[in-house]
Amino acid sequence: MKFSKESPIGFFDSGVGGLSVLKKAIELMPEENYIYFGDSKNAPYGGRPTEEVRELTFKAVEFLLQKGVKAVVVACNTATSAAINELREKYAHLPIIGIEPALKPAVKSCDSGKIIIMATNVTLKEKKFNALMKSLAEQEGCLNRIIPLPCPGLVEYVENGKTEGEEVRGFLNGKLAPYLGERISSIVLGCTHYPFVRETISELVGKEVQIIDGSEGTVRELKRKLEEKELRNLEGNKGNVIIYNSSENEEIIALSYKLLGMTNR
Ligand code: DGL
Repeated sequence: MKFSKESPIGFFDSGVGGLSVLKKAIELMPEENYIYFGDSKNAPYGGRPTEEVRELTFKAVEFLLQKGVKAVVVACNTATSAAINELREKYAHLPIIGIEPALKPAVKSCDSGKIIIMATNVTLKEKKFNALMKSLAEQEGCLNRIIPLPCPGLVEYVENGKTEGEEVRGFLNGKLAPYLGERISSIVLGCTHYPFVRETISELVGKEVQIIDGSEGTVRELKRKLEEKELRNLEGNKGNVIIYNSSENEEIIALSYKLLGMTNR
């Protein structure tokens, strides 16, 4: 399918998490048109074998291509780590942007405290993350202060619209409690669902601990790629946002717009 500057940008995630990245894109490039596909029917991806995540990712990208997108953002750390190289190989004509845990800014600004990387099991065990962690940490000499923290179960809270309250707080406290007595320099949100519980994390670890996510870096990279290919849409003030989801649960679309901070569709 042919595309032009006015064609939408396709975003994809295992569910509603990638909306945290789309939100940043709308803020930085409001004039663009967007299509979002959440695969909530198959979420969470984080506990699945890598091969399965790759297959689901290819299906989702095909869906977006059918809609005529001019670029694809894999707004899911898990899918990026499982499939980004293969996607770029197969769809060489298309700008494809992935997201990965924002380790670089965390390591650059690390003092003597711990750096906690919250992400899914798949992301933390994949080669991509481990190579990045090793090379960055060796440069800065802080490998022993980096703590990969898998958080299975957290995605499900967000998928169910639970982003605050006692239950979520209790879950996060259980995860973070072993480190609360130590100095924490930063927390990296290495899963796009987690920015939706950022406030609760911040209350637990203290406001002085920086919490970093990769959405802004990813959107800046998207912008750069579009400019390079002369595909930026600079017409008009405000583009469209269309959300699709594989789930049969009708509430998921309403939840998606709510997470995006949009009341009317
Ligand atoms: N939002 C996804 C990520 O960034 C994944 C969650 C999942 O489905 O396990 O990793």
